[in-house]
Amino acid sequence: AQRAWPVNLADHETLARAHLTPEADAYFNGGAADEITMAANRQAWAAIPLWPRVLRLRAAPCLKTPLLGRTWPSPVLVAPMAQQGWLHPDAERATALAASALGAGMVLSMQANTPLEHIAQDVAQEPGRGPLWFQLYHLGNRGHTLALAQRAAEAGYEALVLTVDAPIHGVRDRERRHPGHPPRALAQPHMPTPASGAEGLDALLRQAATWEDVVWLQSRSPLPLLLKGILHPADARTACELGVAGVIVSNHGGRVLDTAPSTATALPLVADAVAGRAAVLVDGGLRRGTDILKALALGAHGVLVGRPVLHGLAHAGAQGAAHVLRLLQDELMAAMALCGLADIAAIDRACLQPQ
Ligand code: FNR
Repeated sequence: AQRAWPVNLADHETLARAHLTPEADAYFNGGAADEITMAANRQAWAAIPLWPRVLRLRAAPCLKTPLLGRTWPSPVLVAPMAQQGWLHPDAERATALAASALGAGMVLSMQANTPLEHIAQDVAQEPGRGPLWFQLYHLGNRGHTLALAQRAAEAGYEALVLTVDAPIHGVRDRERRHPGHPPRALAQPHMPTPASGAEGLDALLRQAATWEDVVWLQSRSPLPLLLKGILHPADARTACELGVAGVIVSNHGGRVLDTAPSTATALPLVADAVAGRAAVLVDGGLRRGTDILKALALGAHGVLVGRPVLHGLAHAGAQGAAHVLRLLQDELMAAMALCGLADIAAIDRACLQPQ
C-alpha cells in the first residue's frame, strides 16, 4: 500500500512525531510554561473571520510580494530555527532548498548546524528563490556580531534579523521533563565559544543586547537590519526612530514568555505604530493559507512559518519541507480567490469582517 501523503500541516505534524525522540519532540514542538501563548497564536488567527467577496475574479491570484526594495515570488519565509541537524541529516540545506524551489524566503538561524556560506552557495544564485536572510543574537561581543554580519553580507544574504525577544531561555516545562540536547557531533559554525560559566540569569542578562547595541549595529551593519520579537507598539516606534528596515512581530512561537499576547492581536497595533516607516512581518501559529491572508490583511508585508517546516523536514527531508510550503501557498491562493483578491497589493483590512 502507498504511504498516506499529508493533505495539510496537521498531517505533517502527525507524520513528524513518529520520527522524534521525546527529547527532540519537547525541544521542537514545546513552548513556555503552560503553552498559553503558543496555543493563543493559533486560536487567534482561526478566530478572525474572513469576509468573502464574489463575482470578481477570472484568473488565479498572483503571490508576487515586494519586500525591502525587491519583488519576490511569495510573501512566505521560513522562520529561523536552531539545530535542524537534530531532525534530519540534510539539516538547513534541505530547508533552504525547499524554500528556494517554492519561491519562499529562508532565514538561517545563527544556531544552524550548517555554515551560512554553504547555504548561500546552494541557493543564492537560484532564479525564482525568495529572500535570503541571516538571523543573529547579539551575545555581548560586538566583534563577534560584526564578523558574523560581514560573513553574511559577503556570502550574499540580503538582510540581518536581530532576535531581541529571547535574552534568556523560556521556562519550558516539556524540556525540563525530557531534558536533552542536540547530538554533540552537530556543528555550531556561528556561535562564539561560550564564556565559561555564562549560564545563570544574571550572567545571561549581562551579555544581552540593549537598544544601545541596536543603535551600534544599525550604524555598522553592512546589511539592512530587522528586529525580530516585537510585540509592543512603543518598541516598534523606537525601532522605527532608529531607522531599522523592518520589525518582525513575534513571541518566538510561544517559547519564551508565556501569556504574552498572540501575534494576531499584536500585529495591527504594531502595524499602526510603524505607520509605513519600515517593513512589518509576523510569525507564530500560522498553519493555513487563510491565516496568512489574515496576517497580510492586518498589515504584515510578509510572514514567517516555523514548526510546520520542521515537521516536513523531520519525516521527508527537503521534499517534506517543500510540501509544507506548497500547501500554504496553494491555500493562500484559494483564499485570495474566494475573497476576490487578484494580488497581494489588493489585500487590506476590508478582507476581514469587523468584530
Ligand atoms: C525557534 N525560533 C527561533 N527564533 C530565532 O530567532 N532564532 C532561533 O534560533 C530560533 N530557534 C527556534 C527553534 C525552534 C525549534 C522553534 C520551534 C522556534 C522561533 C522561530 O523563528 C519563530 O519565531 C516561531 O517558531 C514561529 O512560530 P511557529 O510558526 O513555530 O508557531
